[in-house]
Amino acid sequence: MRRSVYVVLMFAALVCLQVSNALAFHDGGVAYCAGCHTMHNTNGNGVQIEGTGEGYPYLLKFANGTDLCLSCHGASRGAVWGTDVMAPPAERGPGNFVFLAEDNINDGHNGASNPIPGWRAGHTVISPSKGTVVDGLNPTSPGGNYPAASLGCTSCHDPHGNANYRLLYGAGDHVEAGNVNFTNAAPVAIGLPFSGVGSTETDINHIAYQSGMSGWCANCHGNFHDNSDQYRHPSGVGMSSAIQNVYGLYAGTMNQNGGTPATSYISDVPFEDPDMTVAWTAAPDNNSKVSCITCHRAHATSGQNAGRWDFNISIYEEDGVESGSYVMPQTYNSLNQRSLCNKCHNKDKNDHNAF
Ligand code: HEC
Ligand code: HEC
Ligand code: HEC
Ligand code: HEC
Ligand code: HEC
Ligand code: HEC
Repeated sequence: MRRSVYVVLMFAALVCLQVSNALAFHDGGVAYCAGCHTMHNTNGNGVQIEGTGEGYPYLLKFANGTDLCLSCHGASRGAVWGTDVMAPPAERGPGNFVFLAEDNINDGHNGASNPIPGWRAGHTVISPSKGTVVDGLNPTSPGGNYPAASLGCTSCHDPHGNANYRLLYGAGDHVEAGNVNFTNAAPVAIGLPFSGVGSTETDINHIAYQSGMSGWCANCHGNFHDNSDQYRHPSGVGMSSAIQNVYGLYAGTMNQNGGTPATSYISDVPFEDPDMTVAWTAAPDNNSKVSCITCHRAHATSGQNAGRWDFNISIYEEDGVESGSYVMPQTYNSLNQRSLCNKCHNKDKNDHNAF
């Protein structure tokens, strides 16, 4: 295997000798090989690796694919792994892996004395530089069989680039990490830039999820909540007019029926729609679908199970209190704000503070 990587790299080095640094690194395809591989069995700084006389696996410049990606995307270019668990980069899209380093994210009843460790904050990617190890609860993806021991950036993103949203693997692709083949297509979505104008995610400038996210997650999880004993919920299905109406009118526990449907979209509770744009503001319509991404983020959050809101608390004021972890920003920061499940199923209506 190592020799074959070497041969391919030698050949590609001749082809790719001149690549302008001005181009975006991945450039819609395979980036220049030496950005990630080295042909001299050395680490990234040109230092010969001690011991075996061999370099890192796959002749990478870092200890594994995840550390390699983090060398550019950890603190910048998306900043997927912030530096401070209490002051993470602005929450958007996939959330942030920094929460894997939390000692406790349990804000439920008695959470302070029953810690839920950070590796339950989402996908535990294995990074020697960050000190993460295999998820202690799920040896494989719940609902499927992707090995947790192989989980890294290149479980989901193709390091050699493709034309899909965020370079995600799609149908028919062989995923080298974990040695599996994906059967479902990559999701269709429009992202936000990583920096500069329009890079902050708000309710009027947000990632536009159009289709396919539930099928994509199912590459590793099957149709998770359909078969789950613990929690059943449909994904990838349309929304009844009753649910569309609730979403349109709900504007928080303090204003459950007074919202304006045309401006009711919140990026905390997104849904998929083929017509979705980054500036979409309306309630769902007959083409809209509830999706895995409605309730989860793709990387991690400071709530258990990469929740878009903390699934363990009953009112928003409880977030961060028991655990001392980061308080997830939330649209409706009102008194006694209840779970965002209410955005589609209003069960707050008997609360005293409703008017
Ligand atoms: C963005 C980083 C990156 C770039 C650029 C890159 N690689 Fe890779 N490559 C990886 C990673 C990470 C692996 C390890 C397998 C995995 O995790 O998917 C790998 C594995 C490989 C392998 C062995 C496994 C396989 O998928 O066949 C070959 C061969 C290879 N790379 C060749 C190349 C060549 C040739 C180029 C330039 C045209 C290149 N790579 C550019 C990151 C990169
Ligand atoms: C040498 C630096 C470097 C390395 C290493 C690197 N990237 Fe990138 N990546 C970039 C740059 C630069 C961009 C373009 C950023 C921008 O648009 O502002 C980018 C863009 C991306 C994007 C967004 C692509 C899009 O079009 O939406 C993803 C996803 C991504 N990289 C994933 C990875 C993964 C996964 C790895 C590890 C296999 C990796 N990158 C390794 C520099 C790097
Ligand atoms: C379980 C699958 C999975 C893993 C593992 C994963 N990603 Fe992602 N990543 C995604 C998905 C899905 C998106 C798009 C999410 C969205 O737009 O809401 C994404 C988005 C991104 C983005 C764009 C961020 C933004 O703010 O728009 C970057 C950069 C990125 N990933 C890099 C990485 C790096 C680096 C790693 C490893 C440390 C990694 N990903 C691991 C699935 C994954
Ligand atoms: C309506 C909101 C919602 C949707 C949609 C949703 N989930 Fe969940 N998910 C949850 C909640 C809430 C939990 C926590 C359940 C619990 O603790 O019993 C959870 C837990 C999980 C877990 C953790 C299970 C474990 O045993 O650790 C996985 C995996 C998961 N969801 C995957 C998915 C996938 C894949 C999809 C899309 C097919 C999806 N979810 C769609 C709300 C949702
Ligand atoms: C490449 C395979 C893969 C893909 C694709 C994938 N997952 Fe996972 N997921 C895993 C594995 C493996 C685990 C168990 C290890 C862990 O929790 O870190 C897991 C765990 C989870 C958990 C529980 C995390 C925790 O520790 O609490 C949730 C929630 C989840 N996935 C949701 C999703 C959603 C939503 C998507 C789509 C956006 C998705 N997954 C896509 C492999 C995958
Ligand atoms: C984006 C809208 C949306 C959100 C947010 C949402 N749901 Fe749902 N929920 C639906 C849709 C759509 C259905 C399918 C039934 C229908 O259309 O009336 C459904 C069905 C259900 C059902 C019936 C399941 C069955 O098997 O019959 C339950 C229970 C439920 N949701 C609970 C929750 C909980 C708990 C949350 C928060 C973790 C939540 N929902 C968040 C849209 C949503």
